[in-house]
Amino acid sequence: MSTKGDYAKVKADIAKLMHQPEYDDGSAGPVLVRLAWHSAGTYDASTDTGGSNGAGMRYEAEGGDPANAGLQHARVFLEPVKEAHPWITYADLWTLAGCVAVEVMGGPEITWRPGRTDYVDDSKLPPRGRLPDATQGADHVRFVFGRMGFNDQEIVALSGAHNLGRCHSDRSGFEGPWVNNPTRFSNQYFKLMTTLKWKEKINPNGVKQFAYVDEETDVELMMLPTDLALVGDKEFKPWVEKYAADKDLFFRDFAKVFDKLMELGIQRDADGKITNSDNVKGGYHAAQRRATLKERRTRAMQSRNPLAKENKKFRSRL
Ligand code: HEM
Repeated sequence: MSTKGDYAKVKADIAKLMHQPEYDDGSAGPVLVRLAWHSAGTYDASTDTGGSNGAGMRYEAEGGDPANAGLQHARVFLEPVKEAHPWITYADLWTLAGCVAVEVMGGPEITWRPGRTDYVDDSKLPPRGRLPDATQGADHVRFVFGRMGFNDQEIVALSGAHNLGRCHSDRSGFEGPWVNNPTRFSNQYFKLMTTLKWKEKINPNGVKQFAYVDEETDVELMMLPTDLALVGDKEFKPWVEKYAADKDLFFRDFAKVFDKLMELGIQRDADGKITNSDNVKGGYHAAQRRATLKERRTRAMQSRNPLAKENKKFRSRL
């Protein structure tokens, strides 16, 4: 167990779990980035609800939202880190893990600030339906991200996270990676979007996406309708072109906007201390680590037989 507040140790442990040869493309990184983004992307600026405080995905109402399908893998990857550093809140752990993942995969360093709290029950969860729907067009994208407080340039920069990872037909209904090397952060997504000829494709499950097949290597890449909406919109397109041409600019802008995303719904005083009313009411609260299977079994046994513990003590005296 580390000293409370030793985030360098937590970061080092997150970096260590990134390599996952049995999982997807061999890295936990992309799904960790998605966990961080979905934990924050529920923010609604007009009502100041949702956002990265609370770690609401621990509760069924948010964690079981079909929009969050697959993110349980990210949460499970992080359990050993929570176990090693029980003082960190889930809300801090998930956001920090997203930032560390971007960096470990070759992306920019992202400023990250601690202090989030975990909800103690599900009464403050944001309603479902706030995350973007990939079957839609530019107006929807602008509406959803506008609600969080992002402008066109920031929306395009954020979308560059689709350089990472892949779609899974059993999670979202879409299938495949956006780029050839989905565990390396780069501006390839913007380059491919502007240079390749994307063809509409209907997956066996009836879901429409866009595909490009490299005839020499037979590798198939994909784009979501919302991805291509960025090049189809005259305000978004110039930013796609800028980021395709200038990797450093993309990295700089991504670092800024991902930091802003991680801070959605978080209020801080001049010293950076979080002042959300949740904190005033509930105090700093790190949710309990999820019990291990062994602990859950023991607890279940004990609740079936409340005297089991007593008996065990008794027997040990025999
Ligand atoms: C219009 C906005 C967006 C839409 C509609 C969208 C939609 C999706 C969908 C459908 C998937 C596939 C999920 C699966 O099947 O596993 C996905 C994956 C992903 N998204 Fe987005 N997304 C959007 C914006 C973002 C943003 C802003 C970020 C981060 C800054 C992000 C990061 C990711 C990552 C890293 C993955 C890969 C996850 C993995 O490999 O498991 N997305 N997104």
